[in-house]
Amino acid sequence: MKKIEKGKLFLKQNLDIFSCPFCHENINALENNSLICDNQHVINLNKKGTVNFLTHSQKGDYDSKEMWHARRNILQKGLFDKIIEEILKEMPNEKVNLIDVGCGEGTPLVKLTEKRPQFKDAMVGFDISKDSINLATDNQKDIFFCIADLANLPFATNKIDAIIDIFSPSSYKEFNRVLSDKGKVYKIVPNSDYLKELRSLLYDKSSEHATYSNQKVVELFFENYPQAQKKEIKYKFKLTDDDFLDLLEMTPLKWGASDEKIADVKQHPLNEITVDVVLLIS
Ligand SMILES: C[S@@+](CC[C@H](N)C(=O)[O-])C[C@H]1O[C@@H](n2cnc3c(N)ncnc32)[C@H](O)[C@@H]1O
Ligand SMILES: [Zn+2]
Repeated sequence: MKKIEKGKLFLKQNLDIFSCPFCHENINALENNSLICDNQHVINLNKKGTVNFLTHSQKGDYDSKEMWHARRNILQKGLFDKIIEEILKEMPNEKVNLIDVGCGEGTPLVKLTEKRPQFKDAMVGFDISKDSINLATDNQKDIFFCIADLANLPFATNKIDAIIDIFSPSSYKEFNRVLSDKGKVYKIVPNSDYLKELRSLLYDKSSEHATYSNQKVVELFFENYPQAQKKEIKYKFKLTDDDFLDLLEMTPLKWGASDEKIADVKQHPLNEITVDVVLLIS
């Protein structure tokens, strides 16, 4: 099936979970290759079978094709597989309408859907980065990927049963608007030992980047969801030299380091890395 036909099929079957990002009314029709809301706003599908729901031009920090290819390589190798397993254990054993906010190049969502084929979930991944969504639309799964802003969700009120947020920002006001009565947020936040070996290669002990605390992010989650659960997930992941280069390319952790430092670190590949995160469930 052509990408545009695949996209149209998904939208036709799941039109009720979307809403207009301009006026927040329902999307009531898919005509030719366009979504049309109750107020006649028109949003076009492109040939990749996806939609840009941004109401004005916005550029994220993550617009780099190289970064997204590197992230895909290492995620496909399994860097986050144990994280995805833990999320799966917590998900309900029934069909859900699910969104992955800040989904990046899409591998986590592809891996998630592969483990739940029996439920025929309606799965949507979106990101503000066009490069990431371009790559995400390559997948053959029944997942709809689109460009959108998590602070202005193009989803209908009370329609979403699962919000997956893996290392991405959150907008709890919007999350709470779209969540159904039984809906839950599954948020992954790095802990202080996340990629610690790489952190200590990149930064001296005196650097502000030498340590990381998730305290504020976790506190904000509990302010919004006082009954939330917290699950620690910590493991080591083996790296080949190529994996190490992909890891270095894909992580925002290096954004505070100089080019000279990064060039130097490339000469000292690690053969193992710590993944240390917390799973928060509302
Ligand atoms: C660390 S990356 C994580 C990507 C993906 N979840 C993964 O684990 O590979 C954070 C992501 O959040 C996205 N992001 C940041 N602000 C956003 C916004 N306002 N709306 C949608 N996505 C956003 C970035 O473009 C980036 O893809
Ligand atoms: Zn509208």
